[in-house]
Amino acid sequence: MPIYFDNAATSHPKPKAVLEAVARAMTDFNANPGRSGHPAALAAARAVLDTREKLAALLNAPDAMRVVHCFNCTDALNLAIKGSLRAGDHVVATTLEHNSVLRVLAGLAARGRIAFTLVTPRPDGFIDPADVLDALTPRTTLIVCTHASNVTGAVQPVAAIGQIAREKGVRYLIDGAQALGGMPVDVQALNCDLYAFPGHKSLLGPQGTGGLYIRPGVHLFTLREGGTGSSSDRLLQPSELPERYESGTVNLPGIAGLGAGCGYVAEHLSQIMMRERELTQALWEGLNAMEGVALYSPGREAERAGIVSFNAADLSSDQAADLLAQRGFAVRGGLHCAPEAHRFLGTLRRGAVRASLGHANTFEEVEQFLAAVRGLI
Ligand code: ALA
Repeated sequence: MPIYFDNAATSHPKPKAVLEAVARAMTDFNANPGRSGHPAALAAARAVLDTREKLAALLNAPDAMRVVHCFNCTDALNLAIKGSLRAGDHVVATTLEHNSVLRVLAGLAARGRIAFTLVTPRPDGFIDPADVLDALTPRTTLIVCTHASNVTGAVQPVAAIGQIAREKGVRYLIDGAQALGGMPVDVQALNCDLYAFPGHKSLLGPQGTGGLYIRPGVHLFTLREGGTGSSSDRLLQPSELPERYESGTVNLPGIAGLGAGCGYVAEHLSQIMMRERELTQALWEGLNAMEGVALYSPGREAERAGIVSFNAADLSSDQAADLLAQRGFAVRGGLHCAPEAHRFLGTLRRGAVRASLGHANTFEEVEQFLAAVRGLI
């Protein structure tokens, strides 16, 4: 593997406990959870529940049954958005959203079902909650905001927006793709109704995992119906959670691995956060001091995830990412599936090089990376 600075796309390396948990699920209790009643199936069901409980603890969810397993964060966002909206509704989101939000909204709008407004950040890259308030209309039924931009890492004022949503009685969805596992998250303090997250990023689980927290009292239409292993005599999809939203066989090996990832994160969160913060600062300062570098991520004074985006000299971001790959570094160039964030930054044509740090990176790697960027320039 190269020196891996692409943790915002998926984290690497996974803790050994994650690999072991995946293997155990496929050997020791490789059965269908929640279906049959034999010991292996019961052990599989216990593993799925154990991960749900660990996720609920990390989210401070009041009830683990309100955390549903999804196939990734995009899947969770689709369920949250399409499951919330009715014809004629209006949605307020931000230009910092990922295509997993933007394309869902744009697709619904193109079919004439909804309308939406995107709020642009202030020049410093942070959404002003007052602008969200101003964008609300009498038809607004949903506010969507990313917890941290996947392009710049800027952590958004999601609690203040939650306060507005609560006061106005508007449902509120947070996209936690770049947050959960990398910073403390408390869905109750954030006043959110829905919190979507991937399992394979900062939670250190395998790909093909993720989930959605659904606040008690919040009802979603289903996007997928089918077998749940419960109430099988009823033709209609059960209303009980979590099975209402988990039709079909879940990703048992992935979920077992995710449980181990959650365990690792719960045990090490403060060290992970401190390390990522220090590494991010070292990387940001090194790039900031370099002539020929345009930096797009906020500095030390701001709350930010472990993401530093930049461009070097007159290279396109893809050229720079390719040259860095040839020198042994894994970063992501291009638009990061967040075109409106790039339009805001003025990088819609060029994209940006995104270096995203993880729990296993070192200061030495940061120094080597800075030397490589200097070399490019
Ligand atoms: N959404 C992921 C990213 O930002 C894949 O790179």
